[in-house]
Amino acid sequence: MAPRIGVLMGGRSPERNVSLRTGDAIYKALQSKGYPVVKIDVGLDVVERIKEESVEIAFLALHGKYGEDGAIQGMLETLGIPYTGSGVLASALAMDKVATKKMIIFEGLPTPQFMIVSQKEATSEGLENISERVYNEMGLPLVVKAPTQGSTIGISFVHKKEELAPAFELAFQYDPVALVEQFIKGVELTASVLGNDEPVALPLIEIVSATGVYDYEAKYTPGLSDHIIPPRIPEERQDIIKDLAVRTYKALGCRGLARVDFMVDIDGNPFVLEVNTIPGMTATSLFPDAAKEAGIDFPELVDKILKLALDNR
Ligand SMILES: Nc1ncnc2c1ncn2[C@@H]1O[C@H](COP(=O)(O)OP(=O)(O)O)[C@@H](O)[C@H]1O
Ligand SMILES: [Mg+2]
Repeated sequence: MAPRIGVLMGGRSPERNVSLRTGDAIYKALQSKGYPVVKIDVGLDVVERIKEESVEIAFLALHGKYGEDGAIQGMLETLGIPYTGSGVLASALAMDKVATKKMIIFEGLPTPQFMIVSQKEATSEGLENISERVYNEMGLPLVVKAPTQGSTIGISFVHKKEELAPAFELAFQYDPVALVEQFIKGVELTASVLGNDEPVALPLIEIVSATGVYDYEAKYTPGLSDHIIPPRIPEERQDIIKDLAVRTYKALGCRGLARVDFMVDIDGNPFVLEVNTIPGMTATSLFPDAAKEAGIDFPELVDKILKLALDNR
């Protein structure tokens, strides 16, 4: 008999709503493949729920903190329940954009120049002084991020010096440190990577947003962002980016699946922005679109991710 699958979804991160949509889509796909499957909305009683429902394998449809960051992975390891996607360390590294950058720089992979500013030093030095120092060192434009947030939460695009202080204040609402990155003007691409020891990159997708920024609204409102397949860059360059995506995936030790986001500047130089170890799987999501382009329909994709979990560790 097929193992009983629990789709772990919801959770308490700001990305809860997206997670519920991802979870619904995965639940339906698993049902269509004939698996015994149950939905579990992850709350403080998650361990009891898993036991009550006799879950034998967890399909993770959680985004953000307490789901994508290694916490639930560690809990499942402790319970001896196999789960989809990356393990504890890769999940934790990918959740933190600063840790991701440090890891991939060690492997010689390209990522935008950056600085880290802590709330502590901002308090002691003063936000205005810190802003001045950052401006002198990095110039403009910049992007200020809360390193552990997703879905563009806590991000500011800074075009003027006076926008720096409020950008830090916003980031500090979410994290004790802010990541300041050089703004890359150019094309945004995403690479969907699938596999364990020999991961492959699916066709790349170029992302354009009607609002100019690929923010929360653009991501989850149908029609507000466009997926362009194939991307409007030369094929040789696409191959280089796919190779960088696989190397990034391996550098963090990802398994199962992950989406690696890139900016490509006007001279064609690619930069890794971040890695999403549990990418969105809703009707408007990027990963399922890339799979479709590779000839893999949604239920088949979900089935592949499940099978990768079973030969995972
Ligand atoms: N350094 C950058 N240069 C230009 N645009 C950026 C940069 N960093 C982020 N962005 C834009 O902001 C969006 C969200 O940033 P990202 O680092 O991917 O965080 P999130 O986890 O919120 O998706 C990206 O999809 C991209 O459109
Ligand atoms: Mg992103």
